[in-house]
Parts: sequence; structure tokens; C-alpha cells
Amino acid sequence: TTRAYVIDEMISAKSIAARVEALAKEIGKEFEGTEQLVVVGLLRGSFVFIADLARELKLPVEVDFLEVSSYGNAMETSREVRILKDLRAAIEGRDVLVVEDIVDTGHTLSHVVNLLASRNPRKLKTIALLDKPSRRETEIRADWTGFEIPDEFVVGYGIDYAQRDRNLPHIGKVRFSE
Ligand code: PRP
Ligand code: MG
Ligand code: MN
Repeated sequence: TTRAYVIDEMISAKSIAARVEALAKEIGKEFEGTEQLVVVGLLRGSFVFIADLARELKLPVEVDFLEVSSYGNAMETSREVRILKDLRAAIEGRDVLVVEDIVDTGHTLSHVVNLLASRNPRKLKTIALLDKPSRRETEIRADWTGFEIPDEFVVGYGIDYAQRDRNLPHIGKVRFSE
């Protein structure tokens, strides 16, 4: 059961598309000459962003997915990542780009970077469509960010509220009706 809410558009589908195109160009420069870039989407929120970003990349690319448990408790001190779905690819010595929809406290991305770095990739970079710097509880910052946003509850373009609204083509801000 979720409270009644409406969604106000925050970032249009057109603005997202323009930003994704620009980000893909920067990534293309960073990974120029790569044998094959492993583009890793974090399930589930990144599925829309990775689909659009991967199609803008003019590089040899393979797409892979990783799902890790999220920590509800910010006081969790364990540096262990519980893997719900691991990569298919072995990334040792390879070029890897981790694709995230949003960095909030930073725990998810920070755990994933530690996990993947321990597998000794040649180069490991991160990109997040959205960043809420005001909510950060860790040092992590994505190498590329689409948009910095204020501390608002957002949905769409892969991001859910109680598993809903991932299929919205834009980023919307949740406003509770009462
Ligand atoms: C959301 C979002 C990021 C993470 C960001 O995922 O997609 O992965 O939280 O939060 P953090 O910076 O505080 O760790 P969620 O765990 O809701 O899973 P989902 O992607 O399947 O929605
Ligand atoms: Mg997620
Ligand atoms: Mn979620």
C-alpha cells in the first residue's frame, strides 16, 4: 500500500536524451581504443539508462548486469556486498563502466566499486544519471553525472517508487496528495 501521489515533471525526456548523448561522447574519449568495454548496469534501476547510453556509445561494447542487496540501515559497517546476481563476464584486465540511475547515500555504488575493483579490471569508471549530493554518507562520486538534483523523491526513467513508475519516459518528482 502506497500513499496517493502525483508526479510533477522534473527532467524532460528530451533533456535526458541530450545529456545522454553528451555523456556518451565523453565516455567514448575516455575509452577510445578499447578492445571491448564491459558496460555494467546495476539492477534494476539502471535498465533504461543503460539501454539509451549503450546505443549512443560508438565503441565495441558488451552489456552485463549486476544486482546487489541494498542496505536499509546506514549504520551497517560490513564492507561485504551481498550479490543477488553476479556478472557473466570475468573483468580482470578489462575496461569496465558501471552504470547507475541515481547516487543517493552512495552505499550501493561504493560497495559495487569495491567489489569490482577487487577483480582487477584494467580501468573501472562509473556513471550515474542522477546525483543527490546532499544525501551522501560515503566518499563516492560517479566519474560522470547526468544531473545533480535536490533531495526530492524522484521516479521514472528506471527509478521506482515501491516498484512503480520505472516506465515513465521522464524524471518526475513525487508529490504526496495529502
Ligand atoms: C536505488 C537506486 C540506486 C540506489 C541508490 O536502488 O537505483 O541503485 O538505490 O541509493 P544509495 O546511493 O543510497 O545506495 P534500489 O536499492 O532501490 O533498487 P532498484 O534499483 O532495484 O530500484
Ligand atoms: Mg538501484
Ligand atoms: Mn528502488
